[in-house]
Amino acid sequence: MAKKKSGKLPVPFQEIETRHEFRVYRKRDLVLVQGKGSSVWDLQGREFLDCVTGMGAAILGHGHPVVMKALKQAETLITCSNLFYNDQRALFMASLANAAPGDLKRVFLCNSGAESVEAALKFARFSTGKTEFICARRGYHGRTMGALSATFRPDYREDFMPLVPGFRFAELNHFESFREQVTNETAAVLLEVVQGEGGVHPVRKEFLQDIARLCREKGLLLILDEVQTGMGRTGRLFGCSNYDVIPDMICLAKSMAGGIPMGAVIVSDRIEHPLGKHGSTFGGNPLACKVANEVLKYILISGFLDSVRKKSFYLMRHLTSRPLSRAVEIRGLGLLTGIQVKGEAAPLVQELEDQGVLALTAGPDVIRLLPPLTISMKDLERLIGALCKILA
Ligand SMILES: Cc1ncc(COP(=O)(O)O)c(C=O)c1O
Repeated sequence: MAKKKSGKLPVPFQEIETRHEFRVYRKRDLVLVQGKGSSVWDLQGREFLDCVTGMGAAILGHGHPVVMKALKQAETLITCSNLFYNDQRALFMASLANAAPGDLKRVFLCNSGAESVEAALKFARFSTGKTEFICARRGYHGRTMGALSATFRPDYREDFMPLVPGFRFAELNHFESFREQVTNETAAVLLEVVQGEGGVHPVRKEFLQDIARLCREKGLLLILDEVQTGMGRTGRLFGCSNYDVIPDMICLAKSMAGGIPMGAVIVSDRIEHPLGKHGSTFGGNPLACKVANEVLKYILISGFLDSVRKKSFYLMRHLTSRPLSRAVEIRGLGLLTGIQVKGEAAPLVQELEDQGVLALTAGPDVIRLLPPLTISMKDLERLIGALCKILA
């Protein structure tokens, strides 16, 4: 872990950032300056296995040749407003629409997860003429006012009241709890297929299929927030393919462009929106589109998603077969893994860091792992070794 990778001068970056940043995050005591593959290096040249990946953005790891090559698009055209057509945007939209299930064939492009959720909420209200949404307890959809209104955690919400009205919450994986919330004003049900931030809770297949049926019967839209689960994270390009459910909208972001900011909503034929009432300056810029198109092609190369499923199975099998006395439950889908622990997760995430592995929390008592889908078996072994050590 002590491989010297950068020869940077000892500039006090941490101090400078602390002095100038308008802080909204509690930070960890590390200055990361370089990445390659599944590793990142700090200012002192210490190497870490990266299972944070910019909160799931670097889905092909750091400095992947496909991403590096696609970034050369910057030499041709970086920005092009949506007032004009563009070659890279056209190609990417076509690839994404072709890869999407059912009649999800039109794409709105934006720059982040919260933006994609905001757009989906507006599209749903306009398409149905109704105002209410049913979301899941523990669900997370972002920090802007609309996305926050759909987010459950009281401590994220309570300082910003009044939020957007019309959001109701029901118990994930309890069909009746959702059905009870349906009113004449319900526009849509909004769900994650695996609650990421909320503690890595996968939705159950029967539940999601029942919700899809309820939506069809009652004329509601089904919006799946796949910001964290999309683009191969669950072992399928879209998480919903694990459940044989086709929603009316899929929200995407995080990993779409391999770490370059990007978001999207893929919409079905049932979705309508008037011209001129929604938009984005940067959404669909040629640079992000070119990178996203190459990332998508790479994920869809034959065998790639099989390898993700194999690695996920391997990780799960090894973690669930060892005597990990500090673990309560291990959950997940694909390479989105949550380990519920006894007590607080944060000190264990620090212990992992001391073992050379960077991980996240998901709520107070869950360690969350978002490794690159390209993680090698050797690095997977290293991850398992570190986890066994701290959880034994
Ligand atoms: C499921 C889900 N939706 C929305 C968001 C918000 O995305 P962003 O931080 O890009 O706005 C996140 C971020 O973690 C997420 O996990």
